[in-house]
Amino acid sequence: MSDSQHPVWVLNGPNLNRLGTREPDIYGDRDYDSVVEEIEREASALGFTAVVRQTNDEAELIAWLHDAADQSVPVIMNPAAFTHYSYAVRDACALLTAPLIEVHLSNPLAREEFRHTSVVGGVANGTISGFGLDSYRLALRALAGLQSSP
Ligand code: DQA
Repeated sequence: MSDSQHPVWVLNGPNLNRLGTREPDIYGDRDYDSVVEEIEREASALGFTAVVRQTNDEAELIAWLHDAADQSVPVIMNPAAFTHYSYAVRDACALLTAPLIEVHLSNPLAREEFRHTSVVGGVANGTISGFGLDSYRLALRALAGLQSSP
């Protein structure tokens, strides 16, 4: 990492490792590895070094959020289904000490009613939904803007 690059953690929740085969009509046909590569590439172009992780385990996601809080690392997170019901993930997000941007590939508000609630959104700086892989790219840009503002 050069001196001018900033760290960002991009954390992904359950079932996102199945991108490519998981409901491609909703989530697209790019597989998870190619999404990771694209996030890393875009992050680097914007001056970030991205650590991109995925877990199906709520406890592991919470442990990563604790580490991010301790290290004051900004987080871009797609909490996947945890978005809609995990108060534990929400409370871990509330501990963060650097910006949090919530992202979704799909637009949960245009889908089933249970997806209309995000328990995470209220402790995020902002949420970007509905643009597929571009949701992550836009989140990186938003983070760059937050970090360059006085
Ligand atoms: C998702 C939307 C959630 O409702 C869903 O449970 C996911 C993916 C998205 O990226 O569109 O797993 O977070």
